Amino acid sequence: MSNLTFGIIKPDAVKNGHTGKIIDRILADGFEIRAMKLIHQTKKQAEGFYAVHSERPFFGELTEFMSSAPCVVLCLEKENAVPEWRNLMGATNPAEADEGTLRKEFATSLGENAVHGSDSDDNAAIEIAYFFSKLELV
Ligand code: RTP
Ligand code: MG
Repeated sequence: MSNLTFGIIKPDAVKNGHTGKIIDRILADGFEIRAMKLIHQTKKQAEGFYAVHSERPFFGELTEFMSSAPCVVLCLEKENAVPEWRNLMGATNPAEADEGTLRKEFATSLGENAVHGSDSDDNAAIEIAYFFSKLELV
């Protein structure tokens, strides 16, 4: 298990003013922030990031949404970072997310679900490198 993962505070959460509250929750849960920046992705960047979903019916909607407004990208450190961050995020569909999770509290729909998290150590390494250079990792 690696101690690093990659997260995004998605455009809905940034637009709705939840960035500070989500960062508070990340720190309170014992993560250390190794890198963080506000970016506005192009459609192409979002398509590259979510390339694994390119054949899925929601790919167009997902990449439109992710490039529609600014988001915050994060490199997070904690023991067992990938599952720990997904536990804090909660289920993909907020209607199924447990109490106390970020998606339960901040997500508005399956498509606009407040946060992203890597699903494996290999993908965490790929996703961190997609948005951060080595020099940006503190
Ligand atoms: P994420 O990658 O964003 O952390 O979310 P996840 O692992 O929980 O879910 P995943 O299956 O990887 O799906 C990526 C994102 O696509 C949107 N989605 N829309 N309309 C739909 O049926 C649908 N299904 C998934 C969600 O925003 C999901 O987070
Ligand atoms: Mg995913």
